Amino acid sequence: MSGSRIIGSGSALPERVVTNAELAERIDTSDEWIIERTGIRQRHIAGEGETTSTLATAAARAALADAGIDASEIDLIVLATATPDNTFPATATKVQAALGCNGGIAFDVAAVCSGFLYALTTADSLLKTGMAKRALVIGAETFSRILDWEDRTTCVLFGDGAGAIVLEAPGDNAPGTGVLASRLHADGAQHDLLYVDGGPSTTQTVGHLRMKGREVFRHAVVNLSSVLNEVLEDADISASQIDWVVPHQANARILDATAKKLGIPAEKVIVTVQSHANTSAASVPLAYDTARKDGRIKDGDLVMFEAMGGGFTWGACLARI
Ligand code: UT7
Repeated sequence: MSGSRIIGSGSALPERVVTNAELAERIDTSDEWIIERTGIRQRHIAGEGETTSTLATAAARAALADAGIDASEIDLIVLATATPDNTFPATATKVQAALGCNGGIAFDVAAVCSGFLYALTTADSLLKTGMAKRALVIGAETFSRILDWEDRTTCVLFGDGAGAIVLEAPGDNAPGTGVLASRLHADGAQHDLLYVDGGPSTTQTVGHLRMKGREVFRHAVVNLSSVLNEVLEDADISASQIDWVVPHQANARILDATAKKLGIPAEKVIVTVQSHANTSAASVPLAYDTARKDGRIKDGDLVMFEAMGGGFTWGACLARI
């Protein structure tokens, strides 16, 4: 079986870096607490003029350059975000206009931190039907704009950024390449553990992120281990065959616990949470691009992507690069 292939990746981060020490000047926290509990040392925060669409467009351009293709060859854009530029139209259409590849399919996916997994799986499915040939799959967020900067239990955890991949329809790919298996899940009953307390249809305000961190942590390890096992079973592959895990970057302790549960050595897990913090839907493609560009992930490697977030939503996807 062959699936859609990842033929390029790119990422973009706001220029401004905010360290833990800077946050500790404003709220009752410390560099030690943040590092010990999360692994985070710094995050990038969007400045004036930087929005989800500008970061997404920069990441998309970098991915197109990496793939060596022109924007005119893109006929599908799926953009995962929980922080769109506007309620509508979709931020994907703004990116499409900025890239100048109008006319194809473009829409947003809202699955918060699992957004990139949902977008990747949706794009792969559309490419397999023949409706499109080359897709940009983007995760882009400006979570700094929905944080309550007085709430130390959440504001230290998140950052802004964008990551993108170019995904090509299976075509004549060799068997066993590209996306091999994907699974997605949601459990809407867990809404109150991680949500935004505003929105156009409820408060007519943007609202702020609210999270019961300890409970989310507990669910994350259980749900991720379970979906990873499902994907391994679907692909008929054992955990020891995986070259790299590219997880959602919420907390270094979640990454450790999940890898341990599956028996995957820590050296095979791509970790960027120390420098990006939790960038929600952007974190998986940002981590993937980081490890592609520094040469760790190579052509032919077997890579597992996984994420869990608000909703709850969670998912995993296995791909041969
Ligand atoms: O991306 C979507 C998915 N999100 C996640 O996966 C996040 C999952 N959760 C987590 O990563 C962790 O639960 C947190 C990092 C959010 C919190 O770590 P924790 O070890 O679960 O800490 P806690 O919530 O149990 O809080 C421990 C203590 C509390 O004080 P008391 O009640 O023990 O006196 C908190 O008030 O730490 C306190 N605390 C802080 N102290 C200093 C909470 N936030 C801070 C802070 N600085 N920023």
